Amino acid sequence: MNSPFQSARLATTHDTSGSGDLCLANARLVLPDRVLVGAVTIENGIIADISEGDQVPAGAVDCAGDLILPGLVELHTDNLERHIEPRPEVDWPHLPALLAHDGELASTGITTVFDAMRAGSIHDGKGRYDNYARKLADELLAAREAGLFRISHFLHLRAEICSETLLDELAAFGPEDRIGIVRLMDHTPGQRQFRDMAALKTYVGKRRGMTDTEFTEHVQKLRNLQERFGARHEAGAVAEADRLGAVLASHDDTTVAHVATSARNGVGFAEFPTTVEAAEACRAHGIAVMMGAPNLIRGGSHSGNVAAEDLARAGLLDIVSSDYVPSALLLSAFHLAGLWQDLPRAIATVTANPARAARLTDRGALCEGLRGDVLRVRRVERAHVLRGVWSMGRQVG
Ligand SMILES: [Fe+2]
Repeated sequence: MNSPFQSARLATTHDTSGSGDLCLANARLVLPDRVLVGAVTIENGIIADISEGDQVPAGAVDCAGDLILPGLVELHTDNLERHIEPRPEVDWPHLPALLAHDGELASTGITTVFDAMRAGSIHDGKGRYDNYARKLADELLAAREAGLFRISHFLHLRAEICSETLLDELAAFGPEDRIGIVRLMDHTPGQRQFRDMAALKTYVGKRRGMTDTEFTEHVQKLRNLQERFGARHEAGAVAEADRLGAVLASHDDTTVAHVATSARNGVGFAEFPTTVEAAEACRAHGIAVMMGAPNLIRGGSHSGNVAAEDLARAGLLDIVSSDYVPSALLLSAFHLAGLWQDLPRAIATVTANPARAARLTDRGALCEGLRGDVLRVRRVERAHVLRGVWSMGRQVG
């Protein structure tokens, strides 16, 4: 499969170039394999030098022992949708929504994001979803081209198997859009994420204000859609991901058979496997496992599925995503650091590992030659406080 991201130069062309040089000194640098007391220097947006020692050269920032980490890489967030539809049926103007979302992520240490957009509509009823992805993607790409963002944005299409229009909506995209990720979504009631129907009723029914009758009708409608379109939509979305040059992701795989299908489809990473068996099968197939930061912080899944912490303890957790709480990403990395007693390994779950899964070769670690996306974090009692965020050497938070 061709990737639009295999060249570091391609991946960075849309970003505003870094500003003046920056040296963060007397810091604890979280390198891929160790923590080093030293300094990192960024020139023209790129990490130019990493050196050991606590000296502070003239013009450098004295970090007084603060941690310096790579900027966080977020592969799955619904946060943009929250900004464009802040309440059900409220369509907020998109450019201000995009900029507010961008600023919010920068403030939480995320310097690269794949913005999830839904592809596949349902035309009527309270479970209605309209087609918005192509228009919103155009607006995002235009804002990116104009250099309006603080951080680096890529597109992530959420391919809804249970919809009426999935393949038509995917057909509106082309390789020139450089879609980063296509994710196969099947939220048919009674399986995968929503094996527990009560959890589905809480999640969808309450959020969309459905009566019991409306919820029952909604469930029946989704089951009919899966029956009518499921196989065709899945095969079609896999082919479209290939045409678009995107990484394919699975979602909510639950059984060994689900994971075997994902492997056959060429899935690169698995979002939120719902059982230990599925996560183990991912490991056996070489599919990276992503879990949600809120699950990790809350100590369990809101849908009653496997706890991310159990997978972390079993060595089955590779990537963490902020999912629906952007600030949870940094928090979860330090939570894992405590659990594993290994800070570089924990930081990799929110930096190097997601970058690799998305085939971004120019970021995700403090290494000379990579993008100057870095965070400064101070430990204050038991908390970790973000004190600075730089994207290609430019301070954005
Ligand atoms: Fe899900």
